Amino acid sequence: VADPRLQAIKAAIRVVPHFPKPGIMFNDITTMLLRPKVFKDAVEIFVDRYRDMSISAVAGVEARGFIFGPPIALALGAKFIPLRKPKKLPGEVISESYVLEYGTDSLEMHVGAAQPGERVIIIDDLVATGGTLCAAINLLERVGADVVECACLIGLPKFKGGCWLNGKPVYVLVDCR
Ligand code: PRP
Repeated sequence: VADPRLQAIKAAIRVVPHFPKPGIMFNDITTMLLRPKVFKDAVEIFVDRYRDMSISAVAGVEARGFIFGPPIALALGAKFIPLRKPKKLPGEVISESYVLEYGTDSLEMHVGAAQPGERVIIIDDLVATGGTLCAAINLLERVGADVVECACLIGLPKFKGGCWLNGKPVYVLVDCR
């Protein structure tokens, strides 16, 4: 039996055709944020999943991982680590590049944000190619952190029901539309 909370989450995500470019179907989570009960349910599904897994850090991917990561981190009693686009973090950083459809981008993390052996989950709103999450995993593994799982609200159908990126499990709540 499907979890009715997942149906409500899926229904609350708006799909905007041809954004930001022709041919792209943009899955917009901002409409879900306007519905506090649905937003809360989404956070709680993740919190329930990770509660007893000794997670001490939640790493959120800019930009929308910054919306979902902090409430999950606070509920778990874990730290929040922002993984940012280039040249946004003021301190010493490590950087990991990834390939986009056209060109490359990178993610950065402050040196000292995660400790060796620390159990971390990585949060983002959506996984498509998985390139962004792979860069996030690499950042954390380079400092010796233990990436327990990557978690997204939305994923391409291939990610639903168990998929791995760089040897790490990916957990997705709902399919892209
Ligand atoms: C989107 C999304 C993920 C990433 C997923 O971010 O929020 O971070 O793409 O794509 P991938 O699995 O193919 O790597 P976007 O590139 O729109 O950046 P933004 O969050 O800064 O808007």
